[in-house]
Amino acid sequence: MKNTLHATNLVKTYGLVKALSSVSLTVEPGASVAIMGPSGSGKSTLLHALSGILRPDSGTVRLGDTDITSLSDSARSILRRKQFGFVFQDGQLVDELTARENVAFPLLLDGWKRSRAMREAEHWLRRLGLDGLGGRKPGEMSGGQAQRVAIARSLIARPSVVFADEPTGALDQATGHEVMQILTTVCHMSGATLIVVTHDLEVAKWCNRLIEIRDAVIHDDRALGVSQA
Ligand SMILES: Nc1ncnc2c1ncn2[C@@H]1O[C@H](COP(=O)(O)OP(=O)(O)OP(=O)(O)O)[C@@H](O)[C@H]1O
Ligand SMILES: [Mg+2]
Repeated sequence: MKNTLHATNLVKTYGLVKALSSVSLTVEPGASVAIMGPSGSGKSTLLHALSGILRPDSGTVRLGDTDITSLSDSARSILRRKQFGFVFQDGQLVDELTARENVAFPLLLDGWKRSRAMREAEHWLRRLGLDGLGGRKPGEMSGGQAQRVAIARSLIARPSVVFADEPTGALDQATGHEVMQILTTVCHMSGATLIVVTHDLEVAKWCNRLIEIRDAVIHDDRALGVSQA
């Protein structure tokens, strides 16, 4: 589970637009990395390339010894399911499912027995301070609570790396910081690497490394003082 993520010379273009221009990056296991930069600079493209959601035009991404870029689509989706967790801006929970079922979803996909998966989901809901909310549907929760459900879901299959694209973008600032504090703390405690795109420097400060992307290249890459427990 402890795997270094290596990206080498990633290039991605959309027509005439260069979204990634030879980006190389190494992320050590257990690190938390914030990615910042102007709108359109390539942050989401980088996150998608690192996580195997999109295949770059050239360059490689390796997780430990595995070259993700050269895997078949099906092998890549299996690796994504087993090794990566995802949190997006609007949570992307399934509206028809309860919080408990949403959190348990990755385990059910992995073939866990329903009762055991639900027990594990309750455990994660408790860890994220959502005790007693397991029976609620996403529409019956606040934005911050729903994001915590999404965080629980991203971590339940014990991924090596959690990717988050503006996970606090739809929240007010105070709730956003609370969610970010929980996300960094729980990833840290689980030993998962965290790579998070954000527009909010205060959110980025929960991470121990800050990468700034400008015009499809890494403009700055520096260590941050860690504010987490
Ligand atoms: N599917 C696509 N088709 C065409 N162009 C795209 C596509 N996805 C991204 N782009 C372009 O690639 C560039 C980088 O986009 P990207 O989504 O990575 O930016 P971003 O830094 O995440 O921006 P934001 O902060 O607004 O989310 C932009 O110029 C964008 O318009
Ligand atoms: Mg984006």
